[in-house]
Amino acid sequence: MFGAGSAAWAMVVVLALLAMRPGRALTPRAGTQLIVGGGVVLPTVLLAALLVYGTLASDRVTGRGEDAAHVVRVTARQWHWEFEYLDRDGIARAASVDRLALPLGEMVEFHIESIDVIHSFWIPRLGGKVDAIPGRTNLLRLRADRAVPMRGQCAEFCGLEHARMAFRVDVLDARAYRAWLRENAVAADGGAAR
Ligand code: CUA
Repeated sequence: MFGAGSAAWAMVVVLALLAMRPGRALTPRAGTQLIVGGGVVLPTVLLAALLVYGTLASDRVTGRGEDAAHVVRVTARQWHWEFEYLDRDGIARAASVDRLALPLGEMVEFHIESIDVIHSFWIPRLGGKVDAIPGRTNLLRLRADRAVPMRGQCAEFCGLEHARMAFRVDVLDARAYRAWLRENAVAADGGAAR
């Protein structure tokens, strides 16, 4: 985005400078060509290409397409985040509150829900925010490629403690992630380990 934006900006600046040079007016024909080419053809082609790319990319980001390696159910409530780490059968095998463990370099699919009001799940270093809405499940896929400190934050005003509705994100390598899941395993009766 930065590269393409810079190129477009540079092109506009060059055109503006050219237009300001005295005694260098375009012929009417060249002016028409510039307007049709730069004002109609170029944006149509660019926007169509971006639309196709964005549609394909959003399928991947929002959870369609191939299976993700891990699934985490996110439940928002006033004013905590609950994370449940599901196995292939959709059963919660581990759980944590206000602390999210992520496997390094692997795609994780989040099933985002809320049990009271609308919240918004957001890890700024990894991607965009997605609303947590009572009565529905929103999907989001994220992958952490570097084990750097990061945090998540509720991004939708949800009550007096909204600003403090944050969570820590720990990016762990495969071995540490497995060990972490064992440490935070839920009991056989389904109760979450706290
Ligand atoms: Cu939850 Cu703001």
